[in-house]
Amino acid sequence: MSQLDFVVDAGGVLQGAFRVPGDKSISHRSIMFGSLANGVTHVSGFLQGEDSLNTLRAFRAMGVDIDGPTEDGRLTIQGVGLKGLKQPSGPLDLGNSGTSMRLMAGLLSGQAFDLELSGDQSLSKRPMKRVTDPLAQMNARVDTAEGGRPPLKIHGGQPLKAINYEMPVASAQVKSCLLLAGIYAEGTTCVTEPAPTRDHTERMLEAFGYSLKKDGATVCLQGGGELTACDIDVPADISSAAFFIVGASIAKGSDITLQHVGINPTRTGIIDIMRLMGANIELLNETMVGGEPVADIRIRSAELQGVAIPEALVPLAIDEFPVIFVAAACASGETRVTGAKELRVKESDRIQVMADGLQALGVDAVPTDDGMIIQGGSINGGKVHSRDDHRIAMAFTMAGLRASAPIHIEDCENVNTSFPDFVGLAQKAGIKINAEVN
Ligand code: S3P
Repeated sequence: MSQLDFVVDAGGVLQGAFRVPGDKSISHRSIMFGSLANGVTHVSGFLQGEDSLNTLRAFRAMGVDIDGPTEDGRLTIQGVGLKGLKQPSGPLDLGNSGTSMRLMAGLLSGQAFDLELSGDQSLSKRPMKRVTDPLAQMNARVDTAEGGRPPLKIHGGQPLKAINYEMPVASAQVKSCLLLAGIYAEGTTCVTEPAPTRDHTERMLEAFGYSLKKDGATVCLQGGGELTACDIDVPADISSAAFFIVGASIAKGSDITLQHVGINPTRTGIIDIMRLMGANIELLNETMVGGEPVADIRIRSAELQGVAIPEALVPLAIDEFPVIFVAAACASGETRVTGAKELRVKESDRIQVMADGLQALGVDAVPTDDGMIIQGGSINGGKVHSRDDHRIAMAFTMAGLRASAPIHIEDCENVNTSFPDFVGLAQKAGIKINAEVN
């Protein structure tokens, strides 16, 4: 079978002002909330990546009329109300998207019909008990395959009851799943998180007129309310911007500005970590759009130093570790990442896959149970494997900026899940990257 590989020639300088694609987390939620609202929701800046398009297709399959996306990411969603979804004609295939599956498991547990959620090979290996266990406490009936893996078979018509849930892992997907189920439950559902995680669900619920009570690490909502349509401007995804934040930091002579990026404080761990390492990052034109803070981010290259990354920053940069490991490989001294075991259950085992790739490029990178220890130094050319994980492929693309010879990255098709036209934008910015079908 043919596969898409990236070949990145060594060196390069990043320059220019550009906008990376829309935020994946907010794009998923815009479809879900817009579909369940009363009235018409207009979305702009929607991410046209495979993951969010899978959410869109799933809601269309449940009878929601969604117009778009247009080329510039505009959508019009005719909301059907909380009880207006229809039973789809077959299983809903959510591709690679863990966010779609976990959030939808919550909101679909409250419907009157049965349905099945399935995914690709990677998603089919990811843990779902973290949502199905608390959903069962709410009286939902969700069957999993062996070991708590997808597909999920959801039995509708169950009267849900509210719970008070203390999450054992810091996961925005679990929190969001339970809040969405809580809308359909009798009583007040409360979720407490062990550390702050992204709060897009809470912000968007409020934007759609659903009231929440927040008290420290706990958020509560009462079932039986309604969502009222509103307009959503999806900012550029800081998780996609992260590749260029690191790229411009490590490539000498670089100076770039990333426009209209979401800087929600539950997502800005990448900025804090890079600043701790000595990066030169400025936030410009800070404003609020639809309850979410945004800014232009200017990055100029800098000498980076290794650091012990504070564990409190880990959930706030959870998707950025592949490229943070690359930054560490370019820093002087040692970087230690701990408290990041969740990386082992993402689209790939990001601790193992990044350690394997960095070692193949001659970097002293030692994987640990919950993180990695990296000695900064030089990066050789060579061959690495993305293990079909978008963020691994894009992280190793940035490593090319400091490598001594070309880096060949295998199996990069999956980049389309979160960053359509990554290659085009990377070339425009100054990276010597080519996509090859092998
Ligand atoms: C997401 C939450 C995070 C993140 C994922 C998107 C979300 O997952 O890794 O890419 O949109 O809620 P966890 O909640 O499993 O940490």
